[in-house]
Amino acid sequence: MSKKLKVGIIGLGSMGSTHLDIYSKIEDVEVIAIADSIQSRLDGSSKAEGNISGQAEGGVSGLSVKKYLDGMDLINNSDIDIVDICVGTNLHYIFVEAALAKNKHVLVEKPLARTYEEAKKIIQFAEGSSCNIMSAMCLRYWPAWVFLKEAIENSTYGKCLSLNFRRQTSFPGGAFYSDDNQCGGALLDLHVHDTDFVNYCLGLPDAVFSQGYKGPSGGIDHVATNYIFNKTNASPLVSSEGTWTMQEGYGFNMSYTANFENGTLSYLLDEEETLKLFRNGHEPESIKLKEGMGYEFEIRAFVDEILSGNKSNLDLLSQAAKTIAIIEAEKISIETCSVVSIKA
Ligand SMILES: NC(=O)c1ccc[n+]([C@@H]2O[C@H](COP(=O)([O-])OP(=O)(O)OC[C@H]3O[C@@H](n4cnc5c(N)ncnc54)[C@H](O)[C@@H]3O)[C@@H](O)[C@H]2O)c1
Repeated sequence: MSKKLKVGIIGLGSMGSTHLDIYSKIEDVEVIAIADSIQSRLDGSSKAEGNISGQAEGGVSGLSVKKYLDGMDLINNSDIDIVDICVGTNLHYIFVEAALAKNKHVLVEKPLARTYEEAKKIIQFAEGSSCNIMSAMCLRYWPAWVFLKEAIENSTYGKCLSLNFRRQTSFPGGAFYSDDNQCGGALLDLHVHDTDFVNYCLGLPDAVFSQGYKGPSGGIDHVATNYIFNKTNASPLVSSEGTWTMQEGYGFNMSYTANFENGTLSYLLDEEETLKLFRNGHEPESIKLKEGMGYEFEIRAFVDEILSGNKSNLDLLSQAAKTIAIIEAEKISIETCSVVSIKA
C-alpha cells in the first residue's frame, strides 16, 4: 500500500472537529498532529458543536497525535504533508502564507481570507508554490447544489429563470463570531456560501444591490442581495438572503428555490435532505441525492487531487477570492443604498 498523506489540523472549533471526523474515514490519510490555543480543546475536555446534524461528532480524546498550542509550531513539523487551517477567518492569511512557505499542501476553511486584499496575496503565494491549495467552499461539493449546477448547465428543465438562496440561523455565539473584525459578520461568514455559489455557477455578477442590518457581531448580520448580470436575457433573476439574527431555538437551515421553464426545484435542509421537483401536469417528485455532506466530498476531492499529482485549479481558488470582492461590494451597497459594480 502507498504511503499515507500526513495531516495536521490547526483550530479545533466546529470546523476543525468536522474535518477530523472526515479524515478518519479516508484511507489514504492520517491525522498526525492537531493544534489549538485552548488547552481544553487540545486535550478533549471541551468540544465545539457543529450546526448540522452529523457534523463534529467525534473528538480528540484518545487520539495519539502530536499536540500544539500554537498552529505555527505544527507547520514547522517536517513530517506533515497537508496543513488544514480551521482557525478564525482573520488568521487564514498568515497561516496559509506560513504553510506554503514550508511546502505543505493547504486546505483552508472558507472564506479564503478576511479581506479581498489578503485573498489576492494568497493567490500570489499559490501561483508561486508547487503545492496544492483549496479554499473549503463546501457548497460546491454539497449534493443538492451539485445537482442544481448540473441542471442549470445541462438545461435539464429548460432555461433557468430565477434562483433564490436562503441561509438562516440563530446566532452561533463565541468570541470569533461576536467580533466583526475577525469573522466579517454573517455577511462574510455565512452568506459567503451563497454568494460564492452564484459566482461559481454563473460567473462574476456585474453589480449587486444589497440591504441589511447590523447584529451581535457588530457587523452586517442580516443581508438580502440581488445579483445583477447585465446580460439580462441570458441570466436568471438571482437573489439570496443570509442571517444569524434569528432568536434562540430557531436552529440552522439552508434552502434554495430554482425556477426553470419546465420545472421548479425546491431544496430545504431537513433530516432526509429531500429535494423536490414540481412540474405542470405531474405529481411533485422527491429527488434522491447522493448521501453525505459537502465537507466530506470536498476533502476527498482535495486528497484525490494531491494523490493524482495534479496541481490545484487556481481558477477555482481565484474565484473564491473574487467572491470576497462581491461580499465587499455588498457591504458598500448596504452602506450607500445603491447598486455597486463589482471590481475584481
Ligand atoms: N464550511 C463551513 O460550513 C463552515 C462552518 C463554520 C465555520 N467555518 C469557518 O471555519 C473557521 C473556524 O470556524 P469555527 O466555528 O471552527 O471557529 P472557532 O472559533 O470555534 O474555532 C477556531 C479555533 O482556532 C483556535 N485558534 C485560534 N488561534 C490559534 C492559533 N494561533 N493556533 C492554534 N489554534 C488557534 C481557537 O482556539 C479555536 O478553538 C472560520 O473561518 C469559519 O468561517 C466554515
